Amino acid sequence: PRPILLTRHGESRDNVRGRIGSDSGLSDTGEIYAKKLANFVEKRLKNERAASIWTSTLQRTILTAGSIVGFPKIQWRALEEINAGVCDGMTYEEIKKNMPEEYESRKKDKLRYRYPRGESYLDVIQRLEPVIIELERQRAPVVVISHQAVLRALYSYFADRPLKEVPHIEIPLHTIIEIQMGVTGVQEKRYKLMD
Ligand code: G3H
Repeated sequence: PRPILLTRHGESRDNVRGRIGSDSGLSDTGEIYAKKLANFVEKRLKNERAASIWTSTLQRTILTAGSIVGFPKIQWRALEEINAGVCDGMTYEEIKKNMPEEYESRKKDKLRYRYPRGESYLDVIQRLEPVIIELERQRAPVVVISHQAVLRALYSYFADRPLKEVPHIEIPLHTIIEIQMGVTGVQEKRYKLMD
């Protein structure tokens, strides 16, 4: 059985500042993760010549894949983080202070809430459909380096978690979630590469 390896990008400079969205590069810690990930992937997929690395088109995922050599890399716009629309680049505190109604409606229904001029989790789930179809068709392992909201949706699909849980699933930084689809169902392993 071929594994699918899911991981968030290494910590970004905006993660450190608490800003959502945007397109920043990696923090020093994020860069260390990129190196550790490359090491892990090169060992784990040593004999898997047909394996590939999928990222979004945002800097933080491309840079996280940057140290991995020996596998083709594919960029997907559909793997980009949830679009926070007018809130892009803000902190949650700023949203709460400047747009309290938006903050409250999101809290009430995070799955359906759509950022003004942005997306909802349901939108993200929908745009991931072609990625899921392609993932299902792959015979070789795939490493998916993406973002928290997107990975919540992908993980929930493979782990068969209910829709209402999707926006709340914890996808920690600097951790690889390995999913194996076998005849007996889905198996999952986690590798935490950094504390
Ligand atoms: O920037 C967006 C976050 O990765 C998604 O987090 O949906 O829990 O606000 P959230």
